[in-house]
Amino acid sequence: YWDLDYDPKKETLVTVGASEAIDLALRAILEPGDEVLYQEPVYVSYAPTVKMAGGVPVAVTTYAEHQFKMQPDHLRAKITPRSKVLMLNYPNNPTGGVMDRATLTEIAKICEEHDLIVISDEIYAHLTYSGKHVCFASLPGMRERTVLLNGFSKAYAMTGWRLGYALGDEEIIKAMTKIHQFTILCCSTNAQYAAIEALRNGESAMLEMKKSYDERRKFFVAGLNKIGLTCFEPLGAFYAFPSIKISGLDSNTFAEELLREEKVAVTPGGAFGECGEGYVRCSLASSMENLKESLVRMERFLERHKKQVG
Ligand SMILES: Cc1ncc(COP(=O)(O)O)c(C=O)c1O
Repeated sequence: YWDLDYDPKKETLVTVGASEAIDLALRAILEPGDEVLYQEPVYVSYAPTVKMAGGVPVAVTTYAEHQFKMQPDHLRAKITPRSKVLMLNYPNNPTGGVMDRATLTEIAKICEEHDLIVISDEIYAHLTYSGKHVCFASLPGMRERTVLLNGFSKAYAMTGWRLGYALGDEEIIKAMTKIHQFTILCCSTNAQYAAIEALRNGESAMLEMKKSYDERRKFFVAGLNKIGLTCFEPLGAFYAFPSIKISGLDSNTFAEELLREEKVAVTPGGAFGECGEGYVRCSLASSMENLKESLVRMERFLERHKKQVG
């Protein structure tokens, strides 16, 4: 898809979801005390897996006013002599932010200057709504320093099949394979055959699903903004990440009370890092009827709680 070729024997590893690939890449690369930079808000496993691999997580905050794109000068400000890895996740979970080529190119230059290895988690690469995804490894000079991760959980909705993969430098893939062999041995062959079938014949179903996510995204984000939950327009993945500041509640209380009072489940933004506080993540992987009903219930919830904070 991204005009890249990898040797299937030496530069490829099939993993139990992208989750295993994230863990293996970090364990293969890090020495104790190495610093790992990553954007925040981000997928919940990043900081814990960095710590479990002996590394030090260093968050680079991203902001709604920058469409949650990592700003090159913000990244630069967090680099120290111990910085070893940059983890990128675009399209992003939880914000739906995507990256443009110009910003990624500036980030690539910084990686070269500071000799950073990049773990680029592009599991939502097929789910973009404003043009084609830019693969980080396809930028000039980045293939050699990037471990590119993807999987079948998102675009092909095969989450329970637990299949992902890592592509990258032979030495890193070799080290990852060693850990994989002694812990997992191999991924389920059923899942691997299913993934081959998805790649050969699943594209039309994937595009149909993407069209549906796009319709839900437009409808739901407009609805959130209408009821007062200001929401940045997600341009990738299948989440909406509205601000809940108007409610006066912290994100945990908001999520718990909304579930208790109105039976609507959202994820507290604080779960995605400190700067996710003041937001909640709503999944668009639910039917249009459910999304419509959830807006009615969220509006009702908000009316009650807005009154409480005056
Ligand atoms: C950004 C990101 N990376 C990785 C994963 C894990 O995916 P998998 O099911 O392939 O382990 C997720 C799942 O939500 C995700 O959002």
